[in-house]
Amino acid sequence: MAKPIKHLQAVVRSIDEPMPGIKRLVLADQDDWRLPAFHPGAHIDLHLDGGLTRTYSLCNDPADCRRYIVAVKKEDSGRGGSRYIHEQLRPGDKIGVSVPRSGMALAPTAMNIFIAGGIGVTPFVSAILALEREHKENYVLHWTSRGNPSLADMLQPAIRAGRVHLYNTLETAAPDIQSLVRHYGDDAKAFCCGPDRMLDAFEAAVAHWPDSRKHIERFVAPKLAPTPSAHPYTVVLAKSGREKEVLPEVSLLATLEEMGADVSVSCGGGICGACRTRWIEGPPIHRDRVLTPQEREKEVIVCVAECAGPRLVLDI
Ligand code: FES
Repeated sequence: MAKPIKHLQAVVRSIDEPMPGIKRLVLADQDDWRLPAFHPGAHIDLHLDGGLTRTYSLCNDPADCRRYIVAVKKEDSGRGGSRYIHEQLRPGDKIGVSVPRSGMALAPTAMNIFIAGGIGVTPFVSAILALEREHKENYVLHWTSRGNPSLADMLQPAIRAGRVHLYNTLETAAPDIQSLVRHYGDDAKAFCCGPDRMLDAFEAAVAHWPDSRKHIERFVAPKLAPTPSAHPYTVVLAKSGREKEVLPEVSLLATLEEMGADVSVSCGGGICGACRTRWIEGPPIHRDRVLTPQEREKEVIVCVAECAGPRLVLDI
């Protein structure tokens, strides 16, 4: 059986700076072949020099598979990925890109409420472009930013149609998320991406909503407390048969890295999905914010997972 493609080599077609501190990259196949398709809200990993992997939301219309567009905010105090993109990456450079993954399940007929803070709009841009292309009006974007928002040029049709509410916090107060989501009734689906304070307010506002009606995108992984009952177990790589003991004080991810296992890592905190891996024997203790209960039956986010049994056998 052919091995599924996990990564491809792309070329940086162009880079612009829609506002200071934000770079927008257009990536394409080197020979302009179509790229793997993606769903609204999907992510890709960029494999940067120095072994860095970073995950970004795709910002173009999913109908446009000749290119991938991502927007990257420079984080001077970050781990180096955005600094590399801002300072080193140039048009014409080749770059490793993962196939797109995940995405957002939009409500087909009920209202989709997108709530974004600043660059947190990026997971919603592809969804809004897709909805506009399909002439769907069942969405609204509430977008808070300090000053002018950074990717507004990509959302002009939606802005002209009155489906985007902008809150420039230099001039006006940020919206009250509790009353905002309540306004849209009992079948709406709400999505949020932005700074921690906004996400906390959103989580509180939709705490009683079923999981199927809410979706959170985080930039920064929440801190995970160690599991008090953690015990040593053996991790086994099924394809090579190699195995190693995982000690509670040495994480599964660190053990896999020591073994040189073929696992991509980006956030390292269970929020991006770069390290999702199929498991054969376990069961794993899932501690991520990525997988659905159904996906957890076969896959595990190894950067944060532990194991409930004596052996965790991974399909790698
Ligand atoms: S590396 Fe991001 S979820 Fe594991």
